Amino acid sequence: MHISAVLAAAALLLVAEAANPTKPTKPTIPRRKIVQSFNVRRNASSKTTPLQVGNGNLAFGADITGLQTFQPYSILSTWGWHNFSLPASATDSNKTASPSDFTGLDWDTHGRLVNYDQPNPAEKAISDWLIQNPQRINLARIGLDFGNASRSKPVTEADLVNATQELDLWTGSIKSSFVFNGTAVEVETWAHPEEDMVGIAIRSDLLASGDLGLFIDFPYPDTNKFDAPFVGVYPNTTSPDDTFQTVFDPWYGTIQRTLASKDGTNDANGTSYYLQLQWNNYGHVSGTKGKYLLTAANSTEILFVAAFSSAGDFVPMSFGGLTDIATDWWFDYWSTGAFVDLTASNASDAKELQRRTVLSQYLTVVNSASTNPPQESGLVNNGWYGKFHLEMAFWHLVHFARWGHFDLLARSLPDMYTRFLPSSIDRAKKQGYNGARWGKMTDPTGRSAPGEINSLLIWQQPHPIYFAELHYRAFPNASILHQWDDIITATADFMASFAFFNKTTGVYDLGPPLYPVSETGNPNATINPAFELAYWKFGLDTAIRWKQRLNNVRNNGTTRANLTAGVPKAWFDVRDKLAPLPVENGTFTVYEGVPNMWTDPATTTDHPALAGIYGWLPPSTTGPLPLNLTVVKNTADRIREHWDLKASYGWDFPLLAMNSLRLGDVKQALAYLLDPSFAFDDAGYPIGGSRVPTPYMPSSGALLQAVAMLAGGWDGSEGSHFPKEWNATVEGFSVGL
Ligand SMILES: *[C@@H]1O[C@H](CO)[C@@H](O)[C@H](O)[C@H]1NC(C)=O
Ligand SMILES: *[C@@H]1O[C@H](CO)[C@@H](O)[C@H](O)[C@H]1NC(C)=O
Ligand SMILES: *[C@@H]1O[C@H](CO)[C@@H](O)[C@H](O)[C@H]1NC(C)=O
Ligand SMILES: *[C@@H]1O[C@H](CO)[C@@H](O)[C@H](O)[C@H]1NC(C)=O
Ligand SMILES: *[C@@H]1O[C@H](CO)[C@@H](O)[C@H](O)[C@H]1NC(C)=O
Ligand SMILES: *[C@@H]1O[C@H](CO)[C@@H](O)[C@H](O)[C@H]1NC(C)=O
Ligand SMILES: *[C@@H]1O[C@H](CO)[C@@H](O)[C@H](O)[C@H]1NC(C)=O
Ligand SMILES: *[C@@H]1O[C@H](CO)[C@@H](O)[C@H](O)[C@H]1NC(C)=O
Ligand SMILES: *[C@@H]1O[C@H](CO)[C@@H](O)[C@H](O)[C@H]1NC(C)=O
Ligand SMILES: *[C@@H]1O[C@H](CO)[C@@H](O)[C@H](O)[C@H]1NC(C)=O
Ligand SMILES: *[C@@H]1O[C@H](CO)[C@@H](O)[C@H](O)[C@H]1NC(C)=O
Ligand SMILES: *[C@@H]1O[C@H](CO)[C@@H](O)[C@H](O)[C@H]1NC(C)=O
Repeated sequence: MHISAVLAAAALLLVAEAANPTKPTKPTIPRRKIVQSFNVRRNASSKTTPLQVGNGNLAFGADITGLQTFQPYSILSTWGWHNFSLPASATDSNKTASPSDFTGLDWDTHGRLVNYDQPNPAEKAISDWLIQNPQRINLARIGLDFGNASRSKPVTEADLVNATQELDLWTGSIKSSFVFNGTAVEVETWAHPEEDMVGIAIRSDLLASGDLGLFIDFPYPDTNKFDAPFVGVYPNTTSPDDTFQTVFDPWYGTIQRTLASKDGTNDANGTSYYLQLQWNNYGHVSGTKGKYLLTAANSTEILFVAAFSSAGDFVPMSFGGLTDIATDWWFDYWSTGAFVDLTASNASDAKELQRRTVLSQYLTVVNSASTNPPQESGLVNNGWYGKFHLEMAFWHLVHFARWGHFDLLARSLPDMYTRFLPSSIDRAKKQGYNGARWGKMTDPTGRSAPGEINSLLIWQQPHPIYFAELHYRAFPNASILHQWDDIITATADFMASFAFFNKTTGVYDLGPPLYPVSETGNPNATINPAFELAYWKFGLDTAIRWKQRLNNVRNNGTTRANLTAGVPKAWFDVRDKLAPLPVENGTFTVYEGVPNMWTDPATTTDHPALAGIYGWLPPSTTGPLPLNLTVVKNTADRIREHWDLKASYGWDFPLLAMNSLRLGDVKQALAYLLDPSFAFDDAGYPIGGSRVPTPYMPSSGALLQAVAMLAGGWDGSEGSHFPKEWNATVEGFSVGL
C-alpha cells in the first residue's frame, strides 16, 4: 500500500473509532425495576456463599443475621496480606532462609538453559514458603452476641424465628430480621463504595436490656491453598502471639492488630492494621487480646461504622453519612454504562440470563473492581492463598470496558502493569529475552509464585495490549496512546524475542517448553499452540498499529508520517512469519503435532481455547494466511461433539458461546451460556466445583463479556444478536473487537 493510502486508512480508522458509542446514553430501560426484581432473599444462611456488601477493594460476607454471627464469612481486602516466618535455611539450620535462596530450575530451551521459577526439590522449604506467602488475611469477624442467653448454651441459627433477609442490589445493602426469644432484631449492612468501611445498624429492645451486643474477633491466617468457605483458623481464631493495642471511649474505638510472625520479605515485624470504630450511642467495649464485645445498653439502636486500614488514618463517618454516599454511588453505577432488558420475553432462558447478568453486574463491582485484579474467588474466600492470576485478569476485567465502566477498570489499569513492569523486565532479562514477561500467580508486589505451570504459561502475555486497544477505542486520544506505550512496547518486545526462528521451516515457533491455555500435555513437546499463535499475532499486529498511531499523532495526522518509524522491525518479522495455526484433518489442533487430537481424552479436556481463536480474537487481517472459517467451523463442531464439557468449568462456556455467536449460531451460544455445568447459585455466585472453590469469579466476568457481545456485537456485525422473539432492549454497549 502506498504511504498516503495507509495514512488515509489510519485516519478513517480514527474517525470510525471516535464514533463508538462509549458514552453511556441516557437510560431508557426501567433499570431500577429490573435490578430490584433480582434482589436476593434468604431465610437461612447458605453453607457455601454469604451475601456480600463491598466496593471491590473490601467486602463483607454476611450470614442470615446480616453479620458473621453463625457462619464466619470473611472480611477480605486488596491490601490485607500476611507472611508466615521464613523457614530454616537449607544449608544452615541455625539460620533463616531468605527468598533469594530460591534459584528455580534450568530447562533446555532451544539449545540453551533458561531459568524458570519452578520448585527445586533441593529448595523445598523456601519454594513452599514462596508459594504460600503472602496469603490474604481475613481482617476480622463481626457478629451478634446474645448476652446471657449465649453464656449457658451457645445460641444457634435454629434459635432464630422468622429469619429473613434481602440484599438490595440497587443500594448495595442488606436488611436482615428475625425474632429471638420473643423479641425482634433488625440489622442493616452497608459498605462505603470507595473507602474500606462497613456500616451496620442494629435495632432491638434486646440491646437496651443488655441481651444483645456486637462481638469482634480476629481469625488467624493459615496456609491452606483453598480456604473456603471460611478464611482462617476456626474455631480457634486469634493467635496468642498477636498483639492488640486498643483505645476505647464511649463513642469511638481503635484496635491495632499486629500479627505475630515476621514479614519474610523485608524483615519488618508482622502485618499490622487498624480497625477503627464509631457508633452513635453511649457504648461500652469489653474484652482483650482480640476478642471484644460492644454493648450499648442505653438504647434500642446501634449505628456502627467499622473502618479497616493499614495506616489507621481514616476518620470514620456516621452511619447515615455512609449510607447516603453508598446510595448515591450505586444509583450512579446502575444508571450509567450499558444495560440489557430481556423482560419482554417469557422464555425461561431469557429470565435466567437476565438474573445471571444483573447479579454478575453486582458481584463484579463488589469482588473485582479493585486496584489489583481479584483472586478467582473474589473477596469471598481464598483460593491459591488469595493470590491473583494474571492470565485470569482478562476475564475478571475486560467486561468493565464493554459495559462502559472505565472508571472501575481504571482502578487497576494500566497502573497494575506499570507496577509489575520492573519485575517482569527482570524476569525476561534473566531468561535472555527482551521486554517484559508477565507473571502468573501473583501477589501485590508482582512476584509470581514458583510453579511449573506458573512459569510456562504464556497466554497472559498479550492481555495488556487487548486492554489498551479497548481503552483507545473508547477514548481515541494521544493521552491514552502515551499512557500504555511503555507497557505495550515491553509486552511486544518480549513476544517478538520469545518466538524462536526455526531455520528448517523458516517460521517463528512458540515453545517448547510452554503450557498452552489448557495446561495439559508435556511442556517439552508443546510447540505452536493454536490459540497462543493467534493471540501472538493479534498482539504484535495491535502493537504495531499502536506505534503507527503514535507516529500519526507526532505528525498531527496531516503531514507525511513514516508509519514504520519507531516500530521495532522484529515485531513485523515475527507477526508475518509466525508458524501457521496447526490444522489437521480440517480442524485446528491444540498444538502442532498433538497425537490423536480428537480421540485422546487427555487432549479434549480442560479449557477449550481453540474456541478463542475466533470467539475472543478478531480475525487477523495481516500476514499471508487469512483465517480459514471452514476450519473454525469444523473445530467448533468437533469441540461440541468430543470435548469433555462435563469437566469444563467457568469461562469455558462464555468462550464457547462467543465462538458460536461469531459463527452465527445464536441458539448454540445461548445453550452454552445456560449449560448445566455453568451454574450460578441463588445469589448469583458462580459455582466452582471439584477443581476450584465457589465462587469462581472469572465466570461472572466472562458471562458479562459474552452478554456484551450478544448485546453490542463486534466490528462488522454491530448491534444486538439476541433472538428476535425475545424483544430484547439494549443500551450503552460499545462495539467489540
Ligand atoms: C547450630 O548452633 C549450635 C549451637 O550454637 C551448634 O552446636 C551447631 O553446630 C550449629 N549448627 C550448624 C549447622 O551450624
Ligand atoms: C522437560 O525438560 C527438562 C530439561 O530441560 C526436564 O528437567 C523436565 O523434567 C522435562 N519435563 C517433562 C515433563 O518432561
Ligand atoms: C428470654 O427472655 C426472658 C425474659 O423475657 C428471660 O427470662 C430468659 O432468660 C430469656 N431466655 C434466653 C434463652 O435468653
Ligand atoms: C413469625 O411469622 C408468622 C407469620 O407472619 C407470625 O404469625 C408469627 O407470629 C411470627 N413469629 C414470631 C415469634 O414473631
Ligand atoms: C483451641 O483453644 C483451646 C482453648 O484455648 C485449646 O485447648 C485448643 O488446644 C486450641 N486448639 C487449637 C487447634 O489450637
Ligand atoms: C519489632 O518488634 C520489636 C520487639 O518485638 C521492637 O523492639 C521493634 O521496635 C519492632 N520493629 C518495628 C519496625 O516495628
Ligand atoms: C448510659 O449512658 C450514660 C451517659 O449518657 C452513661 O453514664 C451510662 O453508663 C450508660 N449506661 C450503660 C448501661 O451503658
Ligand atoms: C523446527 O520445526 C520443526 C517442525 O515444527 C521441529 O520439529 C524442529 O524441532 C524445529 N527446530 C528447532 C531447532 O526447534
Ligand atoms: C503539530 O502541531 C503542533 C501544534 O499544533 C506544532 O507545534 C508542530 O510543529 C506540529 N508538528 C508537525 C510535525 O507538523
Ligand atoms: C521509515 O522508517 C524506517 C525505520 O526508521 C526506515 O527504515 C524507512 O526507510 C523509512 N521510510 C521512509 C519512506 O522514510
Ligand atoms: C480451508 O480449510 C478447508 C478444510 O481444511 C480446506 O478444504 C480449504 O481448502 C481451506 N480453504 C483455504 C482458502 O485454504
Ligand atoms: C486424522 O485422521 C486420520 C484418519 O482418520 C487419523 O488417523 C489421524 O489420527 C487424524 N489426526 C489427528 C491429529 O487427529
